[in-house]
Amino acid sequence: MELEQTQDSPLPAESNRIPRTSTTELLSDPLNDIERPQRKPIELYGLPKRLKGKSLDNLVGYSEQKATAAAAIQNGDSVFITGSCGTGKSHLAYGLMNIWYQIHKDECREYSLRARFLPAVEFFHELKSTYGDNAETTEDQVIVRYTVDDLLVIDDIGAEKVSDWSRQVFYLLIDRRYRDCRQTIITSNMKLQHLSAAIDDRIGSRISEMGPVIELTGKDWRVENSDRRGSTPR
Ligand SMILES: Nc1ncnc2c1ncn2[C@@H]1O[C@H](COP(=O)(O)OP(=O)(O)OP(=O)(O)O)[C@@H](O)[C@H]1O
Ligand SMILES: [Mg+2]
Repeated sequence: MELEQTQDSPLPAESNRIPRTSTTELLSDPLNDIERPQRKPIELYGLPKRLKGKSLDNLVGYSEQKATAAAAIQNGDSVFITGSCGTGKSHLAYGLMNIWYQIHKDECREYSLRARFLPAVEFFHELKSTYGDNAETTEDQVIVRYTVDDLLVIDDIGAEKVSDWSRQVFYLLIDRRYRDCRQTIITSNMKLQHLSAAIDDRIGSRISEMGPVIELTGKDWRVENSDRRGSTPR
């Protein structure tokens, strides 16, 4: 089953988690079927079109890594995926998001779960847009939005040059998710110890406690695919 995107990313919405009506109230209300609020069991944000249809089944090879990563997601843990360019990190992250979705989609609860695919570069771009006097969003709103997601994929962290301040904000996001035991999938071209050195020493220690580190050591599939097509990559 393909993941289906929710429109309009909402601002921090702890209110999403406030139970609307108790089960007893629903059962005793004759208008129950009419008045029951329509909601998706899981709201999905930021799904990249390019990764549509990617799954662990069509990620060739990596059987050990796929098994470890899938078990972590089933267990409620996080996953850190590292590897060089084009080795399938984002593909694996998207596939894991789908596994998480399949696990939770039929759960009966009174609020929607939220899952999001967030390119790290977009996170830092959004933070920068809070700098100005006329900014409509505050830095704290940005952090809270991504702290409350039940599953957050942070794709490609470490690729961008960011200020000390942005690094500390990113650390704060990870630390909050760590403290709240919220599942997080992080992909990076950097190994965990290098990412720690680049962002904050305390980050590596937290990420390794949150779940397994998965290393993808294969070839660059983009180059491979473009060679096969006989063209340059788009
Ligand atoms: N093992 C694989 N089997 C099948 N397709 C793969 C595999 N590895 C990569 N691909 C495909 O190659 C393309 C690039 O993969 P992906 O975007 O996941 O790479 P990445 O490791 O995230 O690269 P980057 O570091 O540049 O972000 C995608 O279309 C992906 O589906
Ligand atoms: Mg990627």
